[in-house]
Amino acid sequence: MTDTIETVVFPVAGLGTRFLPATKSVPKEMLPVVDKPLIQYAVEEAVAAGAQRLVFVTGRTKNAIADFFDTAYELETELAAKNKDDLLAIAQSVVPEGVDCLYVRQSQPLGLGHAILCAKPLVSGAQFGVILPDDLIHHPQDPVMCQLARHHHATQASVVSVNEVAPAHVNRYGVVDAPEFEGRFGAMRGIVEKPEPSQAPSNLAVVGRYLLSSQILDILEHTPPDHRGEIQITDAIATLLNTERVDAYRFEGAQFDCGNKLGFLQATVALGRAHPELGQDFSNWLDAN
Ligand code: UTP
Repeated sequence: MTDTIETVVFPVAGLGTRFLPATKSVPKEMLPVVDKPLIQYAVEEAVAAGAQRLVFVTGRTKNAIADFFDTAYELETELAAKNKDDLLAIAQSVVPEGVDCLYVRQSQPLGLGHAILCAKPLVSGAQFGVILPDDLIHHPQDPVMCQLARHHHATQASVVSVNEVAPAHVNRYGVVDAPEFEGRFGAMRGIVEKPEPSQAPSNLAVVGRYLLSSQILDILEHTPPDHRGEIQITDAIATLLNTERVDAYRFEGAQFDCGNKLGFLQATVALGRAHPELGQDFSNWLDAN
């Protein structure tokens, strides 16, 4: 048993309506923060946690994602012919060797739980990770999926990453009931999707990183859609809690909700300032303007 994860699922079939018009023809996961598309940050995090099987749950308008992880023969031939070795290395390093990219289509956006269920035939192992690429979490020294994998290794529990949000905003998130924390984690008693602030069990909201027992896939098959017709992963986790331990984990790292425009701008500034080549010049410019 190691503290790595074999399979990570990336549900990327959502419509990205909050980012229109940019997402009319470009998947939001392909929008670049500084110099990399959101999906590449997510893949780098999964690979850092040891994932060798990357499963992308895509939709009709998401072909650019599969193209991005494919070999770009024309581009590579051109760069090699011009001896642009640095650029060639960048183009070739998008997916490390030995890592497989697999794709499955979600034919209709029937919810995050349904998207994860679509990955079932491609998931291997007793547990698997889930990363929502629009939740960008910056912690290059210890990526969040590595933090979750370590916690799972130590406890064998499923783990859901959480963050404090303003109590008035809990109705935008899955919210956990985990009354006692020991350091960064607390055993969950329950979880609810988008509760009214007066009914919420806490102000700890689920962020887009999960490390789940594969049992959740069987549960999802029997999880009914909610009032909006979507199958929620939150409901399936609530059922999993009846038979298995699931911990809420307060991760270390700066989180940006890049599914909305403000979060995306904040990520651009934070990662621009931290960029190894551009950071100093960009910070100087920001501070002077
Ligand atoms: P969001 O709630 O951000 O929805 O989904 P969205 O459709 O992507 O964006 P908006 O709200 O219209 O702007 C959270 C994650 O779940 C995936 C999305 O791709 C995103 O990574 N998702 C959601 C699916 O893959 N399928 C779905 O049916 C719903």
